[in-house]
Amino acid sequence: MAKSNMNQDILKVLLSEEQLHQRIQEMGDELFEKFRDKDPMFVGVLNGCFVFMADLVRAAQLKSEVEFISVSSYKNATKSSGVVEITRDLQRDITGRDIIVVEDILDSGNTLYFLRNYLLAKGARSITVVTLLDKPSRREKPIVADLSGFEVPDEFVVGFGLDYCQQYRNMPYIGVLKPEVYSK
Ligand code: XMP
Ligand code: MG
Repeated sequence: MAKSNMNQDILKVLLSEEQLHQRIQEMGDELFEKFRDKDPMFVGVLNGCFVFMADLVRAAQLKSEVEFISVSSYKNATKSSGVVEITRDLQRDITGRDIIVVEDILDSGNTLYFLRNYLLAKGARSITVVTLLDKPSRREKPIVADLSGFEVPDEFVVGFGLDYCQQYRNMPYIGVLKPEVYSK
C-alpha cells in the first residue's frame, strides 16, 4: 500500500488499484464497441464520479463529449434520504443525444432512478447507466446498471472518488472505514 495518512482509517482494502485499473479498461473497451459509430455524451454525477470518470473516458477512447451534473441526497450521512435534488445542472442541450451516465456507486438507486427520468425528460435519445460499484442488496428503486464494475457487499466504502464527510476521495483504492471513524 502506498504512503498515506488516510490508510490508518481503513479497516480493509476491498478493491486494489490494479483491480480497478484492469476492470475500468474492460469497461472502456465495452463502451467503445457499443458507441464507436455513435456520438455519445458522457454525463458524470459529481462529486463521486470524478476519479472513475477520468479513467473511464480515457479507457474508452471514444469521440465524445464530457459533461457533469451534481445531485445531492446524502447530506453527509451514510444513508440516502430518498430525496434527490440537482445542485448543478447540465450546461448543454442533450436533446436527441445518447447519454452515458457515469456514477461511482449504485446503492438505494434513488439517485440514478431520478436522473434517468430527468435526462429522458430533457430529451435524451438513450440512457446507458455505467457504475463503478453496485450494491444490489440495498436497492429501493427499480433500476439496474447497463454496465457495472464490481458488486460490493453492504458496507460503506470510500476511496477512488467515494467519500465519507468529503474525505478519502483521493485514496487510489477502495476500502472500508474502521467503525470508530464514524463515531468520531
Ligand atoms: P443511491 O442510494 O442514490 O446512492 O443509489 C447514490 C450516491 O450515494 C453515495 N453513496 C456512497 N458513497 N460510500 C460512499 O462514499 C458508499 O458506500 C455509498 N453508497 C452510496 C454515492 O455518492 C452515490 O453516488
Ligand atoms: Mg455519487
